[in-house]
Amino acid sequence: MNIVEQIRQLCQEKNAIIMAHYYQRPEIQDVADFVGDSLALAQVAAKTNADIIVMCGVHFMAETAKILCPNKKVLIPAPEAGCSLADSCKATDLAAWKAAHPDHMVVSYVNTSAAVKALTDVVVTSSNALKIVKQLPEDKPILFGPDQNLGGYINRMTGRKMDLWNGGCHVHARFSEEGLLALKEQYPNAKVLAHPECKASILQHADVIGSTQALLNYAISHSSSERPISNSEASHSQYIVVTESGILHEMQKACPEVEFIAVPAVMDDLTICQCNECEYMRMNTLEKLYDCLRKESDEIIVNNKVAQDAIKPIQRMLEMS
Ligand code: 13P
Ligand code: SF4
Repeated sequence: MNIVEQIRQLCQEKNAIIMAHYYQRPEIQDVADFVGDSLALAQVAAKTNADIIVMCGVHFMAETAKILCPNKKVLIPAPEAGCSLADSCKATDLAAWKAAHPDHMVVSYVNTSAAVKALTDVVVTSSNALKIVKQLPEDKPILFGPDQNLGGYINRMTGRKMDLWNGGCHVHARFSEEGLLALKEQYPNAKVLAHPECKASILQHADVIGSTQALLNYAISHSSSERPISNSEASHSQYIVVTESGILHEMQKACPEVEFIAVPAVMDDLTICQCNECEYMRMNTLEKLYDCLRKESDEIIVNNKVAQDAIKPIQRMLEMS
């Protein structure tokens, strides 16, 4: 048996489900039972009948699954897989920010630790952030963190003036406007798909802004093999994709006739590199996944009190999505 067959056999024997984010290595996405964005991963975790959830993503995703399923075993193949965005706001930082703004409510992006979620009123993902913020009382001031790019995008779209934490994702921060404009010149007919974790200077050139799932859905619904949504909407054959390049695997599988062009990241003023990959997401490998299932480690443990406080804003999010 090859390693993929061995992984699948272990899943069957142990009633385990493998969940993977779209930024995972292609071979991890292919072996998974479910591939999705941050919201879908949380929704599926909340409903699964499996005894074991193996989260192929980064630590906060596995932690969110554990908070939603306290009685299940939640495993992560690479426990060291963190997130620069989640790390940009510690619980002690948020506690101090809250203390300085006692009349504000706290909206936190899902890319946060359990301890940060425990201090939060409502969690959002890039799929539902706009929808949820629009439902919050207009006269209520909001602290939004940690992603200032997503927060700025929501402020521009809703007209709200949320106070933003100064955090960001190092992968999305590396995309440059000059690099994107050069690609647009090279591919003048391509539509630009961008994730809201990108800077405003990137988002201003995007035709579509959304979560990984939303970008994928747009490409699928506008591919020539699908009937266009309405007569006025044409199908597109080229996309410039401004997010972590792992999403191109599913895009290419779903729309084989379409050309997806990844935007290279810029390290400094002189060096262009292909580092549009999140090194944390790429820490999960087939070998680590196999070991993780076989040894049932590393298991995610969340402190009981933190989990009890953190589940409330996550459940609020699921209800408001
Ligand atoms: P989504 O898949 O929810 O768009 O999230 C992107 C991300 O940065 C995950 O770390
Ligand atoms: Fe975190 Fe950015 Fe990696 Fe997503 S892509 S896990 S936000 S560092």
